[in-house]
Amino acid sequence: MWGGRFAEGPSAIMREINASIPFDKALWRQDIAASKAHVTMLGAQGIVSAEDAKTICEGLDRVAAEYEADGVPEDWDLEDIHMTTESRLAELIGPVAGRLHTARSRNDQVATDFKLWVRTAIDQTDDGLAALQRALVTQAGAHADSIMPGFTHLQTAQPVTLGHHLMAYYEMLRRDRSRLADARMRMNESPLGSAALAGTGFPIDRDVTSAALQFDRPTANSLDAVSDRDFALDYLMAASQIALHLSRLAEEFIIWASQPFGFVRMADSLSTGSSIMPQKKNPDAAELVRGHAGRVIGSTTALMVTMKGLPLAYSKDMQDDKPPVFEAAGLLALSIAAMTGMVADSTFNTNRMREAAELGYATATDLADWLVTEADIPFREAHHITGAAVKLAEQKGVALDELSLDELQAIDERIDDGVYSALSVEASVAARASYGGTAPEQVKQQVAAARKALGLN
Ligand code: ARG
Repeated sequence: MWGGRFAEGPSAIMREINASIPFDKALWRQDIAASKAHVTMLGAQGIVSAEDAKTICEGLDRVAAEYEADGVPEDWDLEDIHMTTESRLAELIGPVAGRLHTARSRNDQVATDFKLWVRTAIDQTDDGLAALQRALVTQAGAHADSIMPGFTHLQTAQPVTLGHHLMAYYEMLRRDRSRLADARMRMNESPLGSAALAGTGFPIDRDVTSAALQFDRPTANSLDAVSDRDFALDYLMAASQIALHLSRLAEEFIIWASQPFGFVRMADSLSTGSSIMPQKKNPDAAELVRGHAGRVIGSTTALMVTMKGLPLAYSKDMQDDKPPVFEAAGLLALSIAAMTGMVADSTFNTNRMREAAELGYATATDLADWLVTEADIPFREAHHITGAAVKLAEQKGVALDELSLDELQAIDERIDDGVYSALSVEASVAARASYGGTAPEQVKQQVAAARKALGLN
């Protein structure tokens, strides 16, 4: 493509280090679409003849059909998807293909193609998250009254409902989706027409190509447009946050599925067995979601470090922008799909969850609260009295509500038998009816609002 200036061709090492076609062939659809938008505009502006523009567009369609049928050929000499497509176009339609690259550079071309790719990835990620949210609200609705222990420090804290717990993840994903929407809105400006770095002297119409590719407007600074990879980083940072949330949910399933917990039976379809221990059913999918989060975060770090300190405008370092984004998007799509299946197809052992809530003195706070409201004892003192009751129950190996009234009154004579109504796990969750609290009526409201937001009945 630049043979005019060079006396000899590149060495084998140069060819290999330079080639991005092994990975940027994933951009072929975007490359064809952007080229068609560009040449159509060139034709409309009279920069190339209408006839040549038409020939080139039809040629590009033929190249696309070949890629679709046979895949993109990988010739390192052609370096990247842009040259591969242009070279095949020239083979198909002859020298007129050379007019396609008028008023454009691979620098604005690659920025445009990659933006289009990332925009689609954002949309697909958002669709995946919506499906996962639907699975969460469906299970949450079914388990709005299912009582389980809530934890802090992974120690039993207070009873909550499973529906409430699952809806916590709905909220995380709601914020993640707004991060994606935000990234999409900010990135949706067309770099096409920025050319190599300085713009072009040809009378192009950047508004036309921008609109043809569903961008909101053209970018305002050509130097920025060809050097900007913020859009990829915005996506990766949102992806990292999502992967992080998924890894926490995955971890909950791993813990809940362990035999000492026994809160959940994961679907066979998302579990594996052991080649030596016949009893095993391992939560490999959840573990891989937990693991993949590390790789997604690593991709983000990789691109940030690649971009750090690069002077304007394009430098070849930026060719390394694509592998981390492609890898992260692929891992994320799989992780979202795995967690959607896990949430939708797991069976929760609600008896076991309830027993666990009853075992861990989870209603101790309710006893303290009861002392405050019914006996007018300051909370700090109530906390102390309750601590003594828990200690006694622990010594006797019984639940709090299995202590006799005599035993409780020996700790503090102001306690009367009204206290028992506060000590059941049902009473405990029902009492927490503050907005956003775990009371089943609150959870049902959260679920109803979420279903509405998701467009479910
Ligand atoms: N293969 C290149 C990339 O992915 C395309 C841009 C090349 N531009 C250049 N000035 N060498 O970044």
